[in-house]
Amino acid sequence: MWKGIILAGGSGTRLAPLTKVTNKHLLPVYDKPMIYYPLTTLMLCGIRDIVIVSSPDSLPKFESLLGSGQQWGIQLSYSEQSEPRGIADSFLCAEDFIRDSNTALILGDNIFYGSGLPQRLQLAMDRMRGACVLGYEVADPSAFGVVELDENGKPISLVEKPLEPRSNLAVTGLYFYDHRVLDMAKDLAPSKRGELEITDINRIYQEIEALDVVTLGRGTAWLDGGTHSDLFEASQFIKVIEERTGLKVACPEEVAIRSGFIEHSDLERLVSDMPPNGYREYLSAVLASL
Ligand code: G1P
Repeated sequence: MWKGIILAGGSGTRLAPLTKVTNKHLLPVYDKPMIYYPLTTLMLCGIRDIVIVSSPDSLPKFESLLGSGQQWGIQLSYSEQSEPRGIADSFLCAEDFIRDSNTALILGDNIFYGSGLPQRLQLAMDRMRGACVLGYEVADPSAFGVVELDENGKPISLVEKPLEPRSNLAVTGLYFYDHRVLDMAKDLAPSKRGELEITDINRIYQEIEALDVVTLGRGTAWLDGGTHSDLFEASQFIKVIEERTGLKVACPEEVAIRSGFIEHSDLERLVSDMPPNGYREYLSAVLASL
């Protein structure tokens, strides 16, 4: 059984003052809170047992937004990260939750969209021998973890925010690990910037030849909400897709019913509790089409 972690911590300094009283992952990406996007990505992976890791201040807000998850046929837990100590620290914060499971970790500001994405994610989970990361070609890889592959698609180097990237393949913020990740995180030393780096974990798996890389093709969009411009562009992207297709991206109620996590009558109940607006109308139309 897979478990999922959404890391929604950090101080959001790059986005201040937007983030002065609101956690970055609660900010809107067009018509939904940012965290709906990584949450539904995990749901599309078939993962139904998920922990949200965030600061003590923000956790109650996530809890009041998302609740127990039962309404969407999933189970949500909440775990504190007292200080932003890096991405790999999320395993330590969620230690009691992960135990001996395989774990998918997704960064709370990562947005994935594209046809065939669930199949690609399933491939990553099935193929995994130890860990699997998703590679995505970007114009400027220096802002990310960068992976270099040999001619057989095997990873040969991994560098965090390289000044001179050895490839254009960024490592996205969705990672799959076996149970060994917890012990690796415990043994990790903080980097120069004082953080437990996820790239160091990935490098350990690579060194023991247990890291796979699944590349996301050019038909997939991978966006994040790190800067004002990223946030604005992500909103615009979602708006364009949703208006053109009439379909919503990252709607947990819809993902839940289409994945068989909830029944028709459950969705009917959810819709009847919603205020009269476009979101409710959309879900009413989904209900009518089923
Ligand atoms: C983090 C990781 C980096 C990864 C990126 C994906 O960077 O350290 O390896 O490529 O997320 O979003 P950060 O968002 O902390 O700059």
